[in-house]
Amino acid sequence: MRSEVVEIRFVLNGKETQVSTAPDRRVVDLLREDLGLTGTKEGCGSGECGACAVLVNGESRLSCLMLAAQLDGKALTTIEGAPEDGRLQALQEAFVRCGAVQCGFCSPGMIIAAADLLGARPDTGREAIREGLSGNLCRCTGYAKIVDAVQAAFEKLQGGPTP
Ligand code: FES
Ligand code: FES
Repeated sequence: MRSEVVEIRFVLNGKETQVSTAPDRRVVDLLREDLGLTGTKEGCGSGECGACAVLVNGESRLSCLMLAAQLDGKALTTIEGAPEDGRLQALQEAFVRCGAVQCGFCSPGMIIAAADLLGARPDTGREAIREGLSGNLCRCTGYAKIVDAVQAAFEKLQGGPTP
């Protein structure tokens, strides 16, 4: 039996957006397959890896566990929204500068989680950053450079030292 289709309105990367979709469509599928926003990655598909993270009303959420109906009336920011968000742009630049990207599969989710961390608890200490990113897995770069990058971006955004 086909699922019903509903109209969902939300703000996507700063733009009012309306989509017709099954209310139980996963947000990661809506983004990647229906809206062509493939910067958001799907790793585990079960809430374990953090690759699919997006910002919903400024907080990091796993789009593989979120349904389209839950987006109605919300503001959704994906990694493609970076130019509009100073946090995301600073983090992206720091990831490149610090060599924190290898295959890049984890990077969008890491950057989204770091942006949330910066908004919620702007502590530039390595332990706080490690803890804040503990739900995000990287299979190749190793975490030291990722933490370096996040720390550098935090310091830059707070007007402190940059590498
Ligand atoms: S794909 Fe969503 S947490 Fe892994
Ligand atoms: S850079 Fe490849 S998974 Fe993190």
